Amino acid sequence: MADSRRIGIFDSGLGGLTIARILADKLPSEALLYFGDTKRCPYGERPQDEVQLFAQQIAAWLVARDIKLLVIACNTATAAAFRILQESLDIPVIGVIGPGAKAGINKTKTKKIGIVATKGTVASQAYPRVIHAIDKDIQVFQAPSSDSVELVERFLHEDLESNQTWLSEELRDEDKALLEKALLIAGRDAQPFEKENIDTVILGCTHFPLLKPAFQKALGEKVTIVSSAEETEIEVARVLAEEGIEAPATQSPTYTFATTADDIEAFRKAGSFIFGRPLTSIEEVSLDQLETQ
Ligand code: DGL
Repeated sequence: MADSRRIGIFDSGLGGLTIARILADKLPSEALLYFGDTKRCPYGERPQDEVQLFAQQIAAWLVARDIKLLVIACNTATAAAFRILQESLDIPVIGVIGPGAKAGINKTKTKKIGIVATKGTVASQAYPRVIHAIDKDIQVFQAPSSDSVELVERFLHEDLESNQTWLSEELRDEDKALLEKALLIAGRDAQPFEKENIDTVILGCTHFPLLKPAFQKALGEKVTIVSSAEETEIEVARVLAEEGIEAPATQSPTYTFATTADDIEAFRKAGSFIFGRPLTSIEEVSLDQLETQ
């Protein structure tokens, strides 16, 4: 039986739109409802129980809008709340850490994988745990990147025009602002991976695909960089089919957005850039609404 209801997706801010974009590209009949908790971003420096609470609030908000499946498009929130949401919700829940780990495992030949993620994701040990459950011989090296999320959110709000190549594979010399700041951060984050013969690095934060060209430059061309986006889409498609809840093939999808951001126009502008389509419908949600539902 086809199911025309929306897929719910959430992140601490704009980063999860890297996942929403690939879902919209690859599953063109599926309607999406995206929630960005911009006001409380970043999650990566917060304690796990606080992130878990935020994730539960947002999941409840989305479920109240009758979504058919939930994608936690945030590694930090996946690490903190995947299990509890999977156990407590009546709909299928998909996180990004399993898919991200799978993407890395599929690529590595040296069996040495680097993870760049937020402090919270690294501290949770979720990536090593998931990777070792699949292949215990793989060595995992983690690098917490404390300020990349803020850098991405800041660039997107302040400097969008001059950084239009963020989602492309090539970092051009004229993208000076991005080069200077992002390379510093990527170089620092890549340092623990030097001399380890790591051939694959997982961008374990959904904000980081926007810094991929900088990470590639810092890591060198021999290292393959993967993110969770493609594998997450494959997992979503698999679960939709397995549960028999795919959208009717003829459905023209709606894309709706909600955010706790103070500046909706900034969210719209930056969000449209990442999503690759205009964010025409954005609902403003207050923290009060989330906390008292
Ligand atoms: N996109 C989130 C993640 O994947 C960013 C975390 C944050 O808000 O610090 O981890």
